[in-house]
Amino acid sequence: MQLQQSLKASKYRLVITGFCLIANVTSGCAPSAASSLDRRFWAGNKPGPNTSETTPQTNASIDAVNNSNLMNAARLNSFRPGDTWLDTEGQVINAHGGGFYVENGVYYWFGELKGQDGLARAGISLYSSTDLYNWRNEGLVLAVDKSNPDSDIAEGAIIERPKVIFNKKTQKYVMWFHLELKGQGYGSARAGVAVSDTVRGPYRFLTSFKPNNEMSRDQTLFVDDNGKAYQIAASEENQTMHINELTDDYLKPNGKFVRTFIGRSMEAPAVFKYKGRYHLIASGCTGWDPNSARQAVADNMMGPWTELDNPAQGPESDVTFRSQSTYVLEVTPGSGQFIYIGDRWNPDNLADSRYIWLPLKYDNGRFTMRWQDEWQWGQALPVTP
Ligand code: GAL
Repeated sequence: MQLQQSLKASKYRLVITGFCLIANVTSGCAPSAASSLDRRFWAGNKPGPNTSETTPQTNASIDAVNNSNLMNAARLNSFRPGDTWLDTEGQVINAHGGGFYVENGVYYWFGELKGQDGLARAGISLYSSTDLYNWRNEGLVLAVDKSNPDSDIAEGAIIERPKVIFNKKTQKYVMWFHLELKGQGYGSARAGVAVSDTVRGPYRFLTSFKPNNEMSRDQTLFVDDNGKAYQIAASEENQTMHINELTDDYLKPNGKFVRTFIGRSMEAPAVFKYKGRYHLIASGCTGWDPNSARQAVADNMMGPWTELDNPAQGPESDVTFRSQSTYVLEVTPGSGQFIYIGDRWNPDNLADSRYIWLPLKYDNGRFTMRWQDEWQWGQALPVTP
């Protein structure tokens, strides 16, 4: 606790101063699985109480994975935001500050494998799912370096908010994360980059740097329809967001960047695209404590961005239902059904931080979300066509 406080103190002192892979990897998508999911999805049907209704049983390989998953744990068929969320082996899911990647009908959830405090003792974890409710632990995909205390990713560094994208040209999976070098609190403000030939890793750490020589803390990645990728990061002592265009291999910034939300102290960015416009959901800057979410929209990724109002509505919207954004996931690409994914941090025991997943509704150019004790993703229908 003392250590956490001093880490936070050092960070905020600074602030004051300034979806078919399992199905078939080689042949790509198994259309039957995807279209079955789409049909249920578009019909707005709620998943039923039994296994055969909750997961499309259209592919033998997917069935095999699901069945092997279900040896030990009860099958889930809804989201219960804030509850303890168990994986398919009955263990608490440990993937905080998560990033998501969807390929061949499988959702992948990368996250910080937290211990009690904020220091990275293990690295980045990965979970996989075909229905978004039941997640299988795929293990550690980026491990801290336990043998070299001078490594950028030495045990005891801070490794947060991993995000993974796929580069079609190089055929590599590229992971970016927020990195703070060991022993420096939140003073080094760097981005770390790792790659893998396969989505499940292991990921090979390449390097860390300050993008365009500027600070980079809370961060996310976004790949546009034309293949251009961007890193969006809290910079300038968390005062101003930077949007950094990446090189064609997605491994570093290409030098073009914009400063946006100047002086707005925005963190925890999540970027997504809908109806040709770019949307951002983020948080304010209050450490592990929750605050009001921010929302913005732009016609171009590099801006200008227009800030809108808090997407959260109703009781506890002022603290985003006690959560902080990490990702916005589109259930099926192109469907317009988006899920807000946030962390409800528990600074006394970060491993026990909970996940807040809520459906986002689109109405008149902006997104809103309301608290739900329990819900299913068939309900995440946009309000307008
Ligand atoms: C939050 C940030 C988290 C973590 C925390 C440490 O503002 O979003 O990822 O860095 O601060 O206090």
